[in-house]
Amino acid sequence: MKTKTAVISIVGMGYVGLCTAATFASRGIRTIGIDIDEARIEQIRKGKAPLHEPQLDGMLKNAVKKKLLDATNDISSAAETNTTFLTVGTPSQQNGSIDLAYIKNATEDLGNVLREKRGYHLVVVKSTVVPGTTNGTVKRFLEQSSNKTIGSELGLCANPEFLKEGSAINDALHPDKIVVGSNDKRSATQLTRLYRQFYGSKLPPVILSSPEAAELVKYASNAFLATKVSFINTIANIAQQIPGVDVGTMAETIGLDANRRIVPESWTGIWW
Ligand SMILES: NC(=O)c1ccc[n+]([C@@H]2O[C@H](COP(=O)([O-])OP(=O)(O)OC[C@H]3O[C@@H](n4cnc5c(N)ncnc54)[C@H](O)[C@@H]3O)[C@@H](O)[C@H]2O)c1
Repeated sequence: MKTKTAVISIVGMGYVGLCTAATFASRGIRTIGIDIDEARIEQIRKGKAPLHEPQLDGMLKNAVKKKLLDATNDISSAAETNTTFLTVGTPSQQNGSIDLAYIKNATEDLGNVLREKRGYHLVVVKSTVVPGTTNGTVKRFLEQSSNKTIGSELGLCANPEFLKEGSAINDALHPDKIVVGSNDKRSATQLTRLYRQFYGSKLPPVILSSPEAAELVKYASNAFLATKVSFINTIANIAQQIPGVDVGTMAETIGLDANRRIVPESWTGIWW
């Protein structure tokens, strides 16, 4: 496998990882996708998307053909890149708490690989994790398995993903914002520089924060969106009982908020 020129690696070729990999590669950034699922890797290497998402197939085929995207189940390839994104699943357990088993395994595997690496390596937690996970579990597992220290030989950032299934490629190409949660300037600078390379003059607002704030804003966004859906459904139920009232128009009217109580200064669209 040609990995010499690779710049980034992504561990977990599921929805988020694969769409992220395809879009990075589409902008000329060499990307290695890593997954433990061999069938999935085989498919990706053939340029075939293992999941349905508009634009993904063509983008993937192109990236593989141009050798900008390679896929492997060998995590040691990550050492040949300078930044690794963790995009493994973080499912909820029956009691509602987060299952960090995939994160722990992936972090440990990565740390073992980085043990012998010379030079700085940035690890970016893109999976959705509860506040404190990056600086807690991930940091602990990474430092133990690599025998290195975060802040000197290793960088660690939380960088939540806001794309949604069904428009994932478009969302990844045109995000509203990028949240970079870091403990130090070096890791934040490296990640921001990577996004600047990706988006060029169309770089969206980059919000710099602590890892914990980055982790929380993802949950807060999800909760806010769920609240909005639930709210407008309640209004729709009321509207249905009143002749001549259209809930779509109601929603758009609420969104027209000149005093910016609902949307920030720079926002020009309607939320609903
Ligand atoms: N799907 C979405 O719309 C979406 C949007 C935003 C954020 N997220 C978050 O992003 C994360 C990933 O979600 P997803 O939907 O892409 O998950 P997914 O289940 O589709 O994919 C996870 C992938 O990780 C692989 N994996 C598991 N352990 C591994 C290991 N040790 N090494 C290498 N690969 C491994 C699995 O084989 C799988 O292919 C989750 O935290 C999720 O909450 C998802």
